[in-house]
Amino acid sequence: MTSDKGQKISMPYKLLFVCLGNICRSPSAENIMNHLIDQAGLSSSICCDSAGTSSYHIGSQPDRRMSAAAAKLGIQLRGRARQFAKSDFQEFDLILAMDKDNYEDILTLDPTGKYHDKVRLMCDFCTRHSLKEVPDPYYGGVEGFNQVIDLLVDACEGLLQEINNQQLKA
Ligand code: 4NP
Repeated sequence: MTSDKGQKISMPYKLLFVCLGNICRSPSAENIMNHLIDQAGLSSSICCDSAGTSSYHIGSQPDRRMSAAAAKLGIQLRGRARQFAKSDFQEFDLILAMDKDNYEDILTLDPTGKYHDKVRLMCDFCTRHSLKEVPDPYYGGVEGFNQVIDLLVDACEGLLQEINNQQLKA
C-alpha cells in the first residue's frame, strides 16, 4: 500500500502512544483508540501499543486513578508498562507523544532525524480542545485524570479520522 506521499504503508497500520511512565496517559490513549477502532470495525487494519520514555514503572499496570477515570466511559485499561526502545522507530508507523518533553525525549533517541516524520504530538489531532499537550496528571487530583480522558477521546477521534482519510484509502 502506498500513501499520498509515496511511502509504502504496511498493514496493519501501527500506532505507538508514548508518555513518561506508561501508566497514565499513553495506556489510556492506547485503550481509547482500540475502543474506537473496534467500534469502526477496523481491528484488522490498525493496531496500537504504548510505552514510556522512563523506566520508572516497567511491568506495572495502569494507575488506579487513571483506570477509574477511563471506566466512567466503559473503557478498561489493559496492558503493562514498558520503556520506549529505539527499535520502536522501525516497528511503528506513527508515534504519538503526549507532551513536548516526551516528544523531545523520543527525538533524542533518533539523532540523525531519520524517523522524525513518524513522531507527532497527540494534541495535534484534537478538534474540540485547544490544549497543545496532554497534561501529566500523576501528582494532581481526580479532575486531572478526567481531563486526560476528555482530551484523549478528542485526539483519538481526530487521529482515527486522519488515518481513515490519508492512510487506509491511499
Ligand atoms: P504518565 O504519568 O507519564 O502519564 O504515565 C506519570 C506516571 C508516573 C510518573 C510521572 C508521570 N512518575 O513520576 O513516576
